[in-house]
Amino acid sequence: MTLDRTLLNEARDALRAADRVAVLTGAGVSAESNIPTFRDAQTGMWARFDPRQLASPEGFAEAPDRVWNWYRWRRELVASSRPNAGHDALATLQRSRPGVTLITQNVDGFHQQAGARDVLELHGSLQRTVCSVTRRVIDQDWLDEHADAEPPPSPHHPDGLARPDVVWFGEALPAAVIDAALDAAARCDLILVAGTSGEVHPAASLPFIARDHGARVIDVNPEATAISRMADWHLAGPSARWLPALICSA
Ligand code: OAD
Repeated sequence: MTLDRTLLNEARDALRAADRVAVLTGAGVSAESNIPTFRDAQTGMWARFDPRQLASPEGFAEAPDRVWNWYRWRRELVASSRPNAGHDALATLQRSRPGVTLITQNVDGFHQQAGARDVLELHGSLQRTVCSVTRRVIDQDWLDEHADAEPPPSPHHPDGLARPDVVWFGEALPAAVIDAALDAAARCDLILVAGTSGEVHPAASLPFIARDHGARVIDVNPEATAISRMADWHLAGPSARWLPALICSA
């Protein structure tokens, strides 16, 4: 795929000129690390699995073992993979200048692995396991000791079970995290969006909030979405290619 140089140069200039930058990422930035997205036809998770069964409190109550094993499979997938050039570029952007807030819907931890700091994880993290009743974190020693149970019981509550610390459909986002993300969106001069379909709110509202407060919008996505249609620049291609091209000299 050839990059449109004029578009790229314009977007790069805007990124360079911005004092405060918010970045919002979704599953597409990990696609080139071989982690499936959710909504891509054929390959997306939700084309193969039922989100109600696997990513809702009702699905967990119905069959905790099914949910536990699905997340174990996802954790293993992530553990056997690595951040890609897109994650690296975003970490470089954050390191190279002040005022960059990285917000992600992803639970894979690849931004942090690539060296990003203070990442706002809107939908939680696969790396943390919590009690289903109290939401207190369960430590790895306990999980190892009870590894035969699917899922392990909770050490924090007699009725609790271990569950991934991810946000399921119908659950609220962690308040402090979404507040910080809303603040970053409202205060930035530019928001760089990459790899999200923009189908899930409130994350999908962040670029629109930024635009309504006067920010410019760059979207990196091979497909057209509601976000790319309102963006000032839609870089229509894979993020592992476009993000390094955009950021290397920004
Ligand atoms: P989606 O699967 O909805 O969207 C992924 C987007 O990435 C699509 O718009 C693709 O076109 C794009 N994409 C695919 N390959 C790409 C590449 N190489 N480079 C850049 N973009 C690419 O994923 P999200 O928008 O992240 O929530 O989905 C949002 C939330 O829905 C997820 O966090 C998850 C899911 O249900 C929870 O689990 C709570």
